[in-house]
Amino acid sequence: MVGLRRASTWLLVVLVVTATTIANGSRTTPKEDTAAAPTGALENAASTVTNATKSAASAVKEKTKNAASAVTEKTKEAASTVTEKTKDAASAIKNVAAGPKAAKGSAAAGPTGAKGSAAAGPTGAKGSGGSLDVVALGAKGDGKTDDSAAFTSAWEKACAAGGTITVPKGDYLVNSLMLKGPCKGPITMELNGNMKAPTTFDQAKKHCGWIEIMKVADFTLNGNGAIFDGQGAAAWKANDCAKTGKCNNLPINIRFTGLTNAKIIGITSTNSKLFHINIHGCNNMTLQDIGIDAPPESLNTDGIHIGRSNGVNLIGAKIKTGDDCVSIGHGTQNLVIENVECGPGHGISIGSLGKYPNEEPLKGVVVRKCIIKNTDNGVRIKTWPGSPPGIASNILFEDITMDNVTTPILIDQEYCPHGKCKAGVPSKVKLSDVTFKNIKGTSASKIAVKIICSKGCPCTNIALTDINLVSSGKEGPAVSACANMKPVVSGKVVPAACTEVAKSDAKSDE
Ligand SMILES: *[C@@H]1O[C@H](CO)[C@@H](O)[C@H](O)[C@H]1NC(C)=O
Ligand SMILES: *[C@@H]1O[C@H](CO)[C@@H](O)[C@H](O)[C@H]1NC(C)=O
Ligand SMILES: *[C@@H]1O[C@H](CO)[C@@H](O)[C@H](O)[C@H]1NC(C)=O
Repeated sequence: MVGLRRASTWLLVVLVVTATTIANGSRTTPKEDTAAAPTGALENAASTVTNATKSAASAVKEKTKNAASAVTEKTKEAASTVTEKTKDAASAIKNVAAGPKAAKGSAAAGPTGAKGSAAAGPTGAKGSGGSLDVVALGAKGDGKTDDSAAFTSAWEKACAAGGTITVPKGDYLVNSLMLKGPCKGPITMELNGNMKAPTTFDQAKKHCGWIEIMKVADFTLNGNGAIFDGQGAAAWKANDCAKTGKCNNLPINIRFTGLTNAKIIGITSTNSKLFHINIHGCNNMTLQDIGIDAPPESLNTDGIHIGRSNGVNLIGAKIKTGDDCVSIGHGTQNLVIENVECGPGHGISIGSLGKYPNEEPLKGVVVRKCIIKNTDNGVRIKTWPGSPPGIASNILFEDITMDNVTTPILIDQEYCPHGKCKAGVPSKVKLSDVTFKNIKGTSASKIAVKIICSKGCPCTNIALTDINLVSSGKEGPAVSACANMKPVVSGKVVPAACTEVAKSDAKSDE
């Protein structure tokens, strides 16, 4: 499986070099960015975030806490810029709110009268900012009929004024849905039923999302436990990307792209054909009570990938999948991951970083109170050798329990999964201010802590505090191996920090 993955990714690289037509531009392998940068106002806002953070960079040197608050200040500035950029939408919201029929949940309802309020058919609801019931708009929810049109129609109506899309109990078979803003007001989706993907997919179509929500401000998805079933089993079987390099044509279950002020609560993604959830170019977004479920043998099914986003909070998730539980790409800032259970899967990963020129700095990532079980990696950071310059700083892994994890703590700046990199050339991704604190549990292999920093751009201020990892395997007591670095050690650290010299592992899994 691992060999297949390696071969497949290499072929992908080749493919993508020659064919840059993937809708998302910078994405080449399934491990990298999966969505285009937002355009227009959001792009400006994103650029402002980057610029603001650049100017904050010197402030982000001292202690992690100080740095974090400095970045938060800048984020506020950036957020107000976003508000500026969306002021048209905001005034539209006010207008709607002022209208006599607009009060949420009062005037408008589908013909089924689901909300028990004054009846106004779907036509009446149009432009009113009221409630839009997909069944009223023609959805069957029988798991067989293609309900795509009803969802698209509900979205268009909601987007024209702001409003609530309601999805009653049922199983809604939909084809790929592009639900796109900007919209004239906030949008809420209330799901009480499940979403179901077709088992087949259009190989030729470069659209990489089954369900994509794009460029919306003030978006709320209340899943109430709804399942987004990607029905990927057939796709995994037919997934011959090792031979064809066509993995990228498999859809990601759910993509959130260019969202501002979003809340995603109580959804479960199962059996995605490729990644489960991808977050790209988002500002101020909270995900809560997320479920991810796919078998360990499903290829490239990263649980949640976050890239080029600022202020994302992932609070509460149970993730079982065939690849990274959470993967974090460049340009991620002020990310908090809390109460995530991971396993089976490949752990929680930052990177890989440094594969492309002009990657944006990654700053301010906190991963805490997580349980990682039966995975090959626990928490890790990986950067490519021979990379262009890059930055990853202010990263905290805290209060993590490891259970039978092959390498619980891993930094690999010589990440080279296919032996296809400029192996001798050091990574120029500068790692600084990385803290591993209160990390406990069992390591399935002897090397419980492995830290390989760049020879040419040595990492600074890598701290190990209160570590207690014991080996559950048969190779003897756990050890800690390091290269090109000297850790800052405090508290009780078991195994003792950096007693061995770490060797680069060209067989490193991606
Ligand atoms: C960000 O900085 C670049 C130059 O570094 C500049 O071209 C761009 O206009 C700036 N963006 C904003 C929104 O200030
Ligand atoms: C972030 O988004 C939430 C809605 O999800 C909103 O209530 C809050 O005001 C936003 N924060 C900022 C700084 O805009
Ligand atoms: C440890 O994890 C591996 C997968 O990495 C799994 O195959 C094995 O069964 C696990 N052992 C126990 C005791 O759970």
